[in-house]
Amino acid sequence: MKKVSDSFAQLTVNGKTYSLPVHSPTVGPDVLDIRKLYSEANVFTYDPGFTSTAACDSTITYIDGAAGELLHRGYPIDQLAEKSHYLEVCFLLLYGHLPSGTELESFENLVTNHTMLHEQMVNLFRGFRRDAHPMAIMTGVVGAMSAFYHDSTDKNDPHQREVASIRLSAKMPTVGQPFVYPRNDLDYASNFLRMCFAVPAQDYVVNPILARAMDRIFTLHADHEQNASTSTVRLASSSGANPFACIAAGIACLWGPAHGGANQACLAMLNEIGTVDKIPEFIARAKDKNDPFRLMGFGHRVYKNTDPRAKVLKESADEVLELLGVENNPILKVAKELEAAALLDPYFAEKKLFPNVDFYSGIILEAMGFPMSMFTPIFALSRTVGWISQWKEMISDPTMKIGRPRQLYCGETKRDYVDIEKR
Ligand code: SDX
Repeated sequence: MKKVSDSFAQLTVNGKTYSLPVHSPTVGPDVLDIRKLYSEANVFTYDPGFTSTAACDSTITYIDGAAGELLHRGYPIDQLAEKSHYLEVCFLLLYGHLPSGTELESFENLVTNHTMLHEQMVNLFRGFRRDAHPMAIMTGVVGAMSAFYHDSTDKNDPHQREVASIRLSAKMPTVGQPFVYPRNDLDYASNFLRMCFAVPAQDYVVNPILARAMDRIFTLHADHEQNASTSTVRLASSSGANPFACIAAGIACLWGPAHGGANQACLAMLNEIGTVDKIPEFIARAKDKNDPFRLMGFGHRVYKNTDPRAKVLKESADEVLELLGVENNPILKVAKELEAAALLDPYFAEKKLFPNVDFYSGIILEAMGFPMSMFTPIFALSRTVGWISQWKEMISDPTMKIGRPRQLYCGETKRDYVDIEKR
């Protein structure tokens, strides 16, 4: 998007002063436009991890880390979690407005009628070891979708972009569990639960409260600004790679325990702690600089206040565990005591480390019967619409260029090759 600025920052480098345009957002911090800095002043800016860098313009999601606020197209996440549902949030992310009744009905029909996978793809799943991590399978299968749906891989064709968006949003639940076919008479979350838990000998009757909890988990994970996996999708897309390959790259990045893999790591941690009396030992380890242990599900690169999604998930955890009659689940007890102890500890308060989206999601998913290895695939399933929305926004920007960060080179200066006999 062409940027016109009416204010400038002055930067003096090696005795020369440069005017850097300052762009103001609709909400949030101003940005300094440094695009000409290298060509004019022969200097790079230095920002490992891009924590102070605005990598793009976007109108999709806004996060205020200090206030613990998350907006999708301006709508607060707690209102969407309470009043909306996942497919409506998908429409909002993809098209920028809340749908009319007619728009929503046609979008839901479109998604419902694209949930099936190409029959030959089922063979791919049989090629994996039976104990393969579902994230490995999901990364491979989604990348392979470009071989089956190559009629929606041309990013320059708006129709193909639209078809790829619908296919990916619709098919991800089936990728998660391909052997029980989706049913068109079920809503998105109910379909996913049934595909996960139905067995050939006995169908699965969806409990509406579990379906609502599942839909809420999908809604809360749908998009989250320029996080690591979304930035991966954007960088992969900037080379012109097809949408399926770009989403596969995002899935791979999300898998890490510092990112989407934290929900599985968090539950593993809670199980390792086991009982409330062990909490002080683990909090001490998390504070010990010499111990690599960190409290999984705590802390966030942007939120320096409670993650608003964690608040909603904490309420859902209570509802779901009460429904399932496991409200006295010892792990939930450990989670709540751990959260209370950490929030009272000066270390976590000073470093502004609060529970994030991954802290309670694992507890709910485990109570619903999901194996831990399915937690991150569920995150990936939900986030696909966010990745696709960010991909569409980027691809439709005619000024888009291939991403190409630079570096602070600290290696050897030029030197001549030394033959082995002289070394
Ligand atoms: C997600 O970016 C997104 O939007 C991601 C996400 C999304 O929706 O896409 O929200 C999803 O990835 C949520 C985060 C899930 N990850 C975890 O729960 C893993 C545990 N959390 C940490 O690994 C960590 O908090 C990160 C990776 C999330 C953030 O790491 P940072 O940016 O290095 O944390 P920081 O700079 O705020 O850390 C400040 C201090 C550091 O100590 P000092 O160097 O100042 O002495 O706090 C410490 C950190 O060592 N710290 C922790 C800690 N997290 C940070 N100490 C103990 N336990 C932790 N969890």
